[in-house]
Amino acid sequence: MISERVMSSKYMEWAKTRSKARFNLATSGIDSYPLAELPVTIEDLEISGPSFYGYPPLVKAIAERHGVPPESVVAATGTSGSNHLAMATLIQTGDEVLIETPTYELIVSTALYLGARVRRFERSFENGFRLDPERIERTIGNSTKLVVVTNLHNPSGAFTDESTLREIGQIARKAGARVLVDEVYLDAAFDLAPRTSFHLGDHFIVTSSLTKVYGLSGLRCGWILAAPELAERMWRLNDLFGVIPAHLAERVSVIALGNLEKIADRSGALLGANTPLLDRLFGDSSGLTSITGRRGTVAFPRLDCGRVDELCNLLRDKYETSVVPGKFFGVPGHLRIGIGGDTEMVSEGLSRLSTAVSEIT
Ligand SMILES: Cc1ncc(COP(=O)(O)O)c(C=O)c1O
Repeated sequence: MISERVMSSKYMEWAKTRSKARFNLATSGIDSYPLAELPVTIEDLEISGPSFYGYPPLVKAIAERHGVPPESVVAATGTSGSNHLAMATLIQTGDEVLIETPTYELIVSTALYLGARVRRFERSFENGFRLDPERIERTIGNSTKLVVVTNLHNPSGAFTDESTLREIGQIARKAGARVLVDEVYLDAAFDLAPRTSFHLGDHFIVTSSLTKVYGLSGLRCGWILAAPELAERMWRLNDLFGVIPAHLAERVSVIALGNLEKIADRSGALLGANTPLLDRLFGDSSGLTSITGRRGTVAFPRLDCGRVDELCNLLRDKYETSVVPGKFFGVPGHLRIGIGGDTEMVSEGLSRLSTAVSEIT
């Protein structure tokens, strides 16, 4: 159990100041989608508009996309802002929160910042980083208020199916807890076309955004899907955070949501080209061992021999390539590789990674 209040994110500082490289495999999203590709005219770019408890056309577009009532949609600043707002609404100081490990560091630091007592349950490499309901059942207690998971899993790209999530929901409900599912990578499981876990019951709360799968991070278009009563509480709490969002970004987000199939096609094509390059690297007895069945933009292989810090330094200094050291996910023997970038860059980055791994092992 950890409960020390956190006032910063070591991972975010590293990502913002030290992850850049010519061959950047440290990012977890799809290459940025250019504004020029969106059918935007200057008339669309109005600066001020009716955005109070949500800009109605944006709320409607998000609701329609997920087949949920507009009263269940809360717009927020990216998935990060959505996670923060959702957790701030659901967690009181001293509440127990169960969070998967490994996971995206900001989820843990945000819960700790909010004064939660955080318990972790493992998604193990040996089990393909799968979510294991039994582990959650063993860790959950009567004072647990929230269980937090990611789907797809960051950092491994493991997919969790609906029946497993439903089982986790039943365990949580029995203990009087809710389940928060961060689905920022979910739409990248193109072949499965999964639906949001919001539909599994009103004890499920979902967060997502246009960031990772659509290359639209700059819009900061995030959302929470929650039961209407909860959503209402989130809107009210949001008044303490930022009052209203940048309206211009809301307008462009509506246009992006109206063209999402085209944007998704580009992402699907990019992953279709880049995933076999990654599979080839793992298949080459490269000194990196990955889980099978991963999907989406990231992988989290184990370095079979040698130290990850040493590999990352060599990669950066000699090969102008960056990956994310597993220590940021609490698993120092692994590294996270992102494959959402331009294919030529990803291909060269993976080839340099392969050379660096052989050099240190
Ligand atoms: C699981 C997870 N949630 C949220 C985010 C941040 O998303 P956004 O840019 O929409 O705030 C990330 C970014 O890496 C992430 O990995």
